[in-house]
Amino acid sequence: FAALRDVSQSGAPLYLQLKKNIEDAVRRGLIGPGDALPSERDIAAQADISRVTVRKAVQDLVKSGVLVQRHGSGTFVAPRMERVEQSLSRLTSFTEDMARRGMAARSQWLERGVYPPSPDEMMVLGLSASELVSRLSRLRIADETPLAIERAAISASVLPDPREVTSSLYMALGKTGHRPVRAVQRISAVNLGGAEAKLLVVPEGSACLQIERISYLASGKVIEFTKSIYRGDAYDFVAELRLPG
Ligand code: GLP
Repeated sequence: FAALRDVSQSGAPLYLQLKKNIEDAVRRGLIGPGDALPSERDIAAQADISRVTVRKAVQDLVKSGVLVQRHGSGTFVAPRMERVEQSLSRLTSFTEDMARRGMAARSQWLERGVYPPSPDEMMVLGLSASELVSRLSRLRIADETPLAIERAAISASVLPDPREVTSSLYMALGKTGHRPVRAVQRISAVNLGGAEAKLLVVPEGSACLQIERISYLASGKVIEFTKSIYRGDAYDFVAELRLPG
C-alpha cells in the first residue's frame, strides 16, 4: 500500500487526494478485487492525515462502488462482476434470465402507477390522449447486485393495476394471456447520469447500454414499450449470426 502513503502532494482537499490514490491503486492492480483495505487507523497513520479524512474518502468510494464495506470485517475492493451473457435471440424476461443462471431476481420499485401517456407512449402503444398507461420502473437486482434500470409502459386497458405486478411483469402478463411472443430491440451506448449511477452503484459517467424493447402479441398488437439501462461492466449481449438467404 505504498501508493496510499504520499497523499499531500497537491493543493486538492486531502480526502480527494486519498480517494484518487486508492482509485489509482485499484486501477493499477496494486490492490485487487476482494482485497482488504488497511484499517482506517493504519491508513491515517501511513498518510499522516486524520481518520475523519480517511473515512470521508472511503465512504465516497463505497458509494461509487469501488469499495465494499462488510460489517465487522472491514473494507474491501469490490469484487469483480461476473459478466452476464445475454442472448439477443430469445424473448425472455429478466426473472427467467436470472433463474436460468441460478440467481435470485428482485426489484426495487422506482415508479408503479397509471398515468396519461407521453407522446412516445401514445405512438408506440397506439394509445389516444384519453387513454391511460401503466408505468413500471424498477431497479433490477440479481443476488443483491443491481444490474439494470427498467422503465416499462403497458396500456392500462391490458394492465389496469400495475400494483398487481409484484415480481415478474411477463408472468403477470402471461396470466391474462398477454405474454409477448415477438419483440424488436434497439441497443445504444450511453454514459450514466448521477442518479442512475447511484442506483446501479457505479461511478457517474460509467458506460452503459440503453435497450429499448417493443414487444408484440401474436395478433401483431404492441403490448410493451420498455426502456432499460444495463450496466456496461456486467453484460455481454450475444447473437448468433447466419449467412443471409
Ligand atoms: C427484460 C426486458 C424487459 C422486460 C422484462 C420483464 O428485462 N428487457 O423489456 O419488461 O425483461 O421481466 P420480468 O418478467 O422479470 O419483470
